[in-house]
Amino acid sequence: MEERIMTGEANLEDQTLEQSIRPQLLSTYIGQDQVKKNLEIYIEAAKNRQETLDHVLLYGPPGLGKTTLAAVIANEMNVNLRTTAGPAIERPGDLAAILSALEPGDVLFIDEIHRLPRAIEEVLYPAMEDFCLDIVIGTGPSARSVRLDLPPFTLVGATTRAGAISAPLRDRFGVLSRLEYYNEEQLIDIVCRTADIFNTEIDEQGAAEIARRSRGTPRIANRLLRRVRDYAQVRGNGDITLPIAQSSLELLQVDRMGLDHIDHKLLTGIIERFRGGPVGLDTIAASIGEESTTIEDVYEPYLLQIGFLQRTPRGRIVTPLVYQHFNMEVPE
Ligand code: ADE
Repeated sequence: MEERIMTGEANLEDQTLEQSIRPQLLSTYIGQDQVKKNLEIYIEAAKNRQETLDHVLLYGPPGLGKTTLAAVIANEMNVNLRTTAGPAIERPGDLAAILSALEPGDVLFIDEIHRLPRAIEEVLYPAMEDFCLDIVIGTGPSARSVRLDLPPFTLVGATTRAGAISAPLRDRFGVLSRLEYYNEEQLIDIVCRTADIFNTEIDEQGAAEIARRSRGTPRIANRLLRRVRDYAQVRGNGDITLPIAQSSLELLQVDRMGLDHIDHKLLTGIIERFRGGPVGLDTIAASIGEESTTIEDVYEPYLLQIGFLQRTPRGRIVTPLVYQHFNMEVPE
């Protein structure tokens, strides 16, 4: 099976691992300083007033800690966390069941909230606004609508794309927070923190090497750390140093910018088949056999962030940085 190091997708093994290394408090959550500062204030204010926290929408690329932050919010508010995801809710009744099982103050986390069907979104509006459910009983002329009260709760929605959420839903969130890619220093802190939980010795340079190749993403940093730890155990004495990190990441085919073979295929594809662009997203996707949405949500954001790709009205173009990265001559 292809190893999904870069996609930010979490498999089951990773999910368990991630549970154990996830920070529980805002004070131990590294990075996202602006988001944390604001949340700290809103959480304290809500607690002082003995109210629920306003609904929060977290958006940004996969793997930056949206789920972790939802758990931190629930923990800081001393309430339960209930978790679901947009694609898991198929009928309005599914959502009604989840909402009516909430206890006062609970945090309901809906991951990939942009994938909620529109008919289900409409159940959410009165729930978010007035903490009630409008349910239609019966059909035809005898159908009638009943309003059920819900306990007050906080909805934390997460999405990789704020633009994919309908305006009426977006407007019902009181707090909108955009998560940013992490810098090297923050990723070093995260790698060292996780290594500490694993009881693995790691030096600053080893941690920096993993951090540099993690695409600004803690989930990737922690996953690479786990692979490097395996390598250190089998090929070394278990400690992670710069040479150990370098050779194991080489073996994983993660280059010095953190790019993997799909990034390579995407970038060299644009250069070789489309003379560096501009080329449309769907055309790129078809030419390398990936889904357009995977490219748009998973690969492209980081390539845009590091200035390797640019979006223009006529399509994507690669920048001179890409030619330099691949030791190719920059065309006129
Ligand atoms: N592990 C994963 N993400 C983290 C973060 N933002 N802070 C601390 N530990 C983490």
